Amino acid sequence: MAQFTRRRFGRTVLAGAAVSGLRNLFAQDDCAPPDGTPVDFVIPKLQNIQRKAIAELAPNEVARLQLAYKKLRDLAASDPDDPRGWMQQAKVHCWQCGGSGMDIHGSWTFLPWHRAYLYFHERILCKLLNDNSFRLPYWSWDDKLYRNLPAIYRTATAGGDTNPLYDANRSDGAANGSSMPGSIFPALQNPMNAANFASFGGGASAGGALEFGPHGAIHMWTGGPDDPYADMGNLSLAARDPIFYVHHCNLDRLWAEWNRRNPVQHANPADAAFLTRSFQFFDENKQLVNIRVQDVLDPAPLGFSYRPGAKLSESKPARWTQLKYDPATHLIQLPENVRAAIAAPSVIARKRSLVVEDVTLPLKSGSYNVFVGDPPAAAPDQSTAVNYVGYIGIIVGEHHRQHKSSLVLQATSQFLQTASGAGALLTFAPAGTANGERLDFDIAYLTEE
Ligand code: C2O
Repeated sequence: MAQFTRRRFGRTVLAGAAVSGLRNLFAQDDCAPPDGTPVDFVIPKLQNIQRKAIAELAPNEVARLQLAYKKLRDLAASDPDDPRGWMQQAKVHCWQCGGSGMDIHGSWTFLPWHRAYLYFHERILCKLLNDNSFRLPYWSWDDKLYRNLPAIYRTATAGGDTNPLYDANRSDGAANGSSMPGSIFPALQNPMNAANFASFGGGASAGGALEFGPHGAIHMWTGGPDDPYADMGNLSLAARDPIFYVHHCNLDRLWAEWNRRNPVQHANPADAAFLTRSFQFFDENKQLVNIRVQDVLDPAPLGFSYRPGAKLSESKPARWTQLKYDPATHLIQLPENVRAAIAAPSVIARKRSLVVEDVTLPLKSGSYNVFVGDPPAAAPDQSTAVNYVGYIGIIVGEHHRQHKSSLVLQATSQFLQTASGAGALLTFAPAGTANGERLDFDIAYLTEE
């Protein structure tokens, strides 16, 4: 079974310079929340209602969702200072993505912060609808059938009026209903196969596979691809697109599902620093509330749950081998037995992944192909190169620090045969280009299924 014990929680992340080029769009104060005196969160008395996939919504439920966002937008127009209104809700996210100097991305706070954010957002929508049975739906992109922008979010009008779920700042592919490229879900980089929370959801100073896998890639695909990345492609603007909330609802669901699949190995961190970390949000009554991570680890008391199951594959037992990696020479060494197993005509073809920790990620939003060593010449399909190890979408905001993450990358037999002993800096090359940023990492494991 997985052994993945060497973690370095508490290490300080290098403070990176803010992402250049877009800084003037947002002065720091533009996303500051209104003032308030917080009270402590009290568990609400709510009926536990399952959140549904967008594809499962009945016509009256679609109409209710549209009405909720119409009311949110109307409130922003009639009282821009009401902390519950549409733009104020979007600013909450902007504020926590580095605008305040406190970034909840790129670490283990990513999942619980967004769960709390969606919870208060949902309470506000219930209040505006005067309907406590409303729950946010999720965009079930884990299922191949739903890997395009849901139709109800695409049309500029709905029933003769402006569609409150529409946003104009999207990529052509998202806007016209095309499917996401398969590269967003590399078979060997499935976050649901992460062996423990540090890999799945991150640690004190590094993000996890869900955040730096489909989360970022789908943000970039929806809002990208061109710089300046509008709405979904930019953390400071992302929550100005209504699709943001249902994208994150699916991430929240995948977190719950990953916990469910293995309550022991997939337990959430028990560290006091994690459990007692607190955040503030305005609730449905405009009251500022202080909520701790431990208040959101179980969705049921927050009034929602998810039907068990998700289309990303089940976790399988994996064998973990720590690789010898020399940070001075950047050489990876495969143990003799692994080398022999790879060279031998294999009885069972094993699925091998390269797990690296504490990788400092590029500071600029984009879709990157990851190579060990030099990227091949720009070609239509660089992913066939022997040193190709993966694809990653990175989304950052304006006032950003550099993130670190553990990454689960692909390790084909061909790669392992040629890479052993080869220079092994990871290169992040913006997709389709032959040059990239070379970045160091600390530890490598080989996992085998
Ligand atoms: Cu707070 Cu998807 O980002």
